Formats: sequence, C-alpha cells, structure tokens
Amino acid sequence: MSYTVSQLLTQDITFQPIEINGWVRGFRSNRFIALNDGSTINNIQCVVDFENTDEAILKRITTGAAVHVKGELVESQGKGQKVEIKVTSIDILGDSDPEEYPIQPKKHTFEFLRENAHLRTRTNTFSAVMRLRSSLSFAVHKYFNDNGFYYMHTPIITGSDAEGAGEMFRVSSLDAKNPPLDDDGNVDFKKDFFGKETNLTVSGQLEAETFAMSLGKVYTFGPTFRAENSNTSRHLSEFWMIEPEVAFMDLAGNMDLAEDFMKSVLSYILEHNREDLEFLDKRLLDEEKTKPQAQRSEMSLIEKIKFVVDNNFKRVSYTEAIDILKNSKPNKKKKFNYIIEEWGADLQSEHERFLVEKHFKCPVILFDYPANIKAFYMRLNEDGKTVRAMDILFPGIGEMVGGSQREERLDVLKEKMKALDISEEELWWYLDLRKYGTAVHSGFGLGFERLVMFATGMGNIRDVIPYPRTPQNAEF
Ligand code: 4AD
Ligand code: MG
Repeated sequence: MSYTVSQLLTQDITFQPIEINGWVRGFRSNRFIALNDGSTINNIQCVVDFENTDEAILKRITTGAAVHVKGELVESQGKGQKVEIKVTSIDILGDSDPEEYPIQPKKHTFEFLRENAHLRTRTNTFSAVMRLRSSLSFAVHKYFNDNGFYYMHTPIITGSDAEGAGEMFRVSSLDAKNPPLDDDGNVDFKKDFFGKETNLTVSGQLEAETFAMSLGKVYTFGPTFRAENSNTSRHLSEFWMIEPEVAFMDLAGNMDLAEDFMKSVLSYILEHNREDLEFLDKRLLDEEKTKPQAQRSEMSLIEKIKFVVDNNFKRVSYTEAIDILKNSKPNKKKKFNYIIEEWGADLQSEHERFLVEKHFKCPVILFDYPANIKAFYMRLNEDGKTVRAMDILFPGIGEMVGGSQREERLDVLKEKMKALDISEEELWWYLDLRKYGTAVHSGFGLGFERLVMFATGMGNIRDVIPYPRTPQNAEF
C-alpha cells in the first residue's frame, strides 16, 4: 500500500510491506536515503541494500530526485528515529543532476531561495511555512463557518477605490498599440475597461457591506492589490485579506470579534501544526543566538503565540496613545526618538512599535482615530472630530488589522464624500444601503500574510506567500 511519510512516522504499521513516493533530501554512505514527500517536516530514512542494488541506480539517488520505494517499515537501529524503511526495490522516477540542482543539503540564504521560489518549498523552513499558511486558511473558514458567517466572493475588477487612497492598479482591455485618445491626444484611461475606468480591488469591504445588510454576517477572503511603492518587509503589491462585515454590530463588538477570531485561528495551529511550529521555533532560537544578548527575544515562537491566545488585547484610544507617546522619553539608542508632538498626526510604524513592544508588551487595539487621517466610510463620533476606527497592532509586526464601525447616516456620509471629492454617482449603490433600511454595522480587514508572519516568526512578508509580488518582483 502507498503511504505518506507522515503516516509512516505516526501510525502503527511496522513490518508491513509498504510503498512510498518522495524526493531525496540526502543520500549518505551509499546506503541511507533521507526521503521527504511534503507531508511532514520529518524525513523518513530508507536503508538501501547497496550490495544487491545496481550501481547505475545508486548513482541516480541524488538530492532532489523523485523516487518510488518499496520495502518494509521496521524499527530503526539508528538514533533519532523510531522507524525506517528497509528498501526491497527503488525506482528513480525523475533524476536531478546534483551539479545543477539549486537546493543543496546545506543552509541557503532566504534571498537566494526567493530567487528560486519554485523550488524553495523543498526546504524544511518553507515547507513548514506553507503548511502553516494552509492550516491558517482552513482555520479562518472554520471560524466563520462555526460562527454563522457566510463566505462571500467580492469582485477583483472594480470601478471603486474602497479606501479612497488612490493606490490602484488599472485594468485594461485596450489595444496597447492603438489606444483610444482623449481630446488632447493622451491615452483615455477612462475608457480602459471596455469603455469604463476600472482597477484591481484594494479591498472587498464596500461590496461586503452590501451583503452584511442582507445576510447579516459575512466575510471575504481573497486577493487584494495595492499600487503603493512601499519596499518594506511588511508590504506586498498583492496580498490576501480577510474581511468580515456584520450588521447591527458596533465598534466594541468589532473589537471583540477581531480578538476572538485571532485567538481562535492561532489556537488552531497550536493544536494541529505542532511539529512545524517546533521546527520554526528551533530555527528562530538558532537565529537569536547570533544576536547580542540584549537584543534577543524573551519568548520563543510558541510562547509568543500562546501569550496572544491567553491574554486580553489592550484597548487604548488614539488620544490616550498620543499622551503616552508625548510623555515617553526618547530612547538613548535613538530607536524610538521620534515622539509625536501633535494630536491629529498619523502614527508612524516606530510609534506603533513603541506602544506595542516597549510600553504595553502585548497586542493593542487602538480606536477612535482623528477623522481626517482615516477613510471616508468610518462612523463619525459625537465629538465631530474622531471616527470609530480601530487598528490592531502586534508585537514584531505592527498593523495587523484595520477596521471600523461604518457611517450609516446618509446625510453625514454624503457630506464626507463631498468634502473628499468622492463621486456620489459612482457609489450610488453604496449610498442606497443608507437609504433603504440603514443600520449600525462594522467590520475589519486582516492582512493574511501578516498573520502568517506572526505565526511562523518569519521576518519578511516575501517569505510567507508562495510568489511575492512587490514593486521589484513579479517574476514567477
Ligand atoms: O488598513 P487597510 O487598508 O483596511 C482596509 O482595506 C479596510 N477596507 C478593511 C476593512 O475594514 N474591511 O488594510 C487592512 C489590513 C492591514 O491592517 C494590513 O494587515 C493589511 O491589510 N495590508 C497589507 N498587507 C500586506 N501588504 C500591503 N501592502 C498591505 N496593506 C494593507
Ligand atoms: Mg490600515
């Protein structure tokens, strides 16, 4: 029977004839194959009877080759593994030239592996990260399904700029060589999508609001696109966003939902992805050892995840946060020396890091931001100057979630759109929600890759998505 490596290592099936497929990770002393098939971080050792195996076959057992092994699962004589396969026959399914194969059995830099993104999941680190990414996706759907939400697919091609930030990629059906021109002889982008101006979505929120106002509790989980020229370890041009939207829920309910949701998906991987987390934990520990003592992290990866699951997020208003920042002393090492002077300024990532990593030392929900630094759709507070916005900041990551209670009052929303020069004509359907049966409603967006970064301890967002799209890279 054909098994996976994971099954062979965890099930009680010794002394049975077994068959297995996989890729050779290493071949030692013409005798011991370390075989991996992607089902687990662990390799299974296959012991080849080299005296009775054709020399030509032995030569073809090289790192990266695909093989089919028949044998018997027996208790291992060696240290470090309970079982191994006593090979009775081996077929080489696909050769791999050891001189050319880029993934050698040694440590490669992440930069090198990014250039070989099509092969990097054959390493332990990247296979663990991608298994965790898959598990977290499943946990996201499970959470919402268990809690009465409907999954909604929002359009990728859209005419609206949900965030009003102008960071959209255009979508064009135009003949590039013969585009329509406007009166001044310039390319008329207003006609780029079969006569209409369109772009790739920056967020599914506005469409999700329409479904919340009929189905009650909905969420989206899909690709979103940002044409901002940010080359940081936290920004991608294409990333996946999870956006729940709920009718009759206010900002406090939104905070409760976000916190409960994040704790739930992180608990899920603690329970189901232990091996991979332990592997990544060890990887990080080795990395930490190369740093000076003072800069080392106090908690391991698993401890950090458990800490988030077991402790309340700190809820702090923007105004309180500004007071904390104003009263904090510039750090001697100039790490946090940019202190906010003015109420009303947007927080820079160094402020966020100060609040989360130095001051509170836990995830923080910041709420009630100044209206003029947030998007047009957020509910204006009674003070007339703040909106019911919330950002969730995470240690080591920064902004993980952005959300708000939505402006449900037609007149106030229209006034805001007018002030920001946002077309009522284009968003007529969005305004309709406020005309017909309007109600308090709220939602948030969580950047999935930032969650995967937190859950895996990876330091660069390019290393938690299969094929990262950034201003410099869209090769694969
Ligand atoms: O704060 P943002 O821009 O909020 C929205 O788009 C709202 N419409 C969400 C909503 O209320 N339904 O983005 C939400 C989250 C951020 O907190 C961040 O985690 C992530 O999306 N994000 C990015 N992740 C990777 N690369 C980028 N360029 C990102 N921009 C935002
Ligand atoms: Mg934001």
